[in-house]
Amino acid sequence: MSPLQEQILALKKQKNAVILAHNYQVKEIQEIADYVGDSLGLSYQAQASQADIILFCGVHFMAETAKIVNPGKKVLLPDMEAGCSLADSCDAGELAAYKALHPNIYVMAYINCTAEVKALSDVIVTSGNAERMVRHVPPDREILFVPDQNLGEWVTERTGRKMRLWQGNCYVHIEFTHASLTKIRSEHPNIPLVAHPECTRAVRMLADEVCSTEKMISYCRDHPSHSFIIATESGMLNRLRKELPDKEFIPGPTDRCACADCRYMKMNTLEKVYDALRDEKPELIMAPELREKALVPLQRMLDWSRN
Ligand code: 13P
Ligand code: SF4
Repeated sequence: MSPLQEQILALKKQKNAVILAHNYQVKEIQEIADYVGDSLGLSYQAQASQADIILFCGVHFMAETAKIVNPGKKVLLPDMEAGCSLADSCDAGELAAYKALHPNIYVMAYINCTAEVKALSDVIVTSGNAERMVRHVPPDREILFVPDQNLGEWVTERTGRKMRLWQGNCYVHIEFTHASLTKIRSEHPNIPLVAHPECTRAVRMLADEVCSTEKMISYCRDHPSHSFIIATESGMLNRLRKELPDKEFIPGPTDRCACADCRYMKMNTLEKVYDALRDEKPELIMAPELREKALVPLQRMLDWSRN
């Protein structure tokens, strides 16, 4: 542990705070977190937290989700500018206009969206439970999946359920290409390729497994192979190497490099984490009416996910 990490841990104890970190955070932040996981695991952790402060090391929609499910807590995000290209691609006004034109549409929203979009949705899903959630939707309702066209397309492939797809994407995951992954596979033959469903179909078709970041851990743990190629954001490699130190993880390259960094996830640094805990800001503030509306589809997901 570095001196700064130790100071953060001391401050955390003094303030009765909990640090929740997404799998895409840098190694130094993952090391000081109470819990590191995917969006689904983080939502459950946020809801169950008894701490006074939830310091969320992730991006804005994740901190918002924590506030929605546990409003009595002070929720801090080290950098309020840490957004998400997927959340940006679905504007609540546009979604409201779409719903006005299609009043019977069932809106299934990937958790990577704003609270305003959540408030307009019927159910929220994550990459870890989307398949299961679709099976709960009445068969006579047409589904609009927002905002990730790739994840929505993957859910249709897995379930056979046709959906209208909002045309959004994750700028990090669409950088992996069929050519870049075919090339690395030829350099490492017979090594499984594990990809996140936010990747394009051309990439998913090459993969041995397509799953959420958390499921990548159990897949690699249970698989007899020693080595794996991983097509997702670079922070995931930290988590995999920590959980499975005897296995080898090769970052899936894009056409340009082998560094699939999400610029938003990487806005969080140890220095900002320390400052946020010390000053108890920036704090995530949300209007109660918005929070209550956004909670309905989120709680539906948390309930359905347990069964
Ligand atoms: P999961 O960790 O839920 O798989 O999500 C990946 C992601 O892109 C979060 O921003
Ligand atoms: Fe959003 Fe993609 Fe970054 Fe995840 S990796 S926070 S989906 S931009």
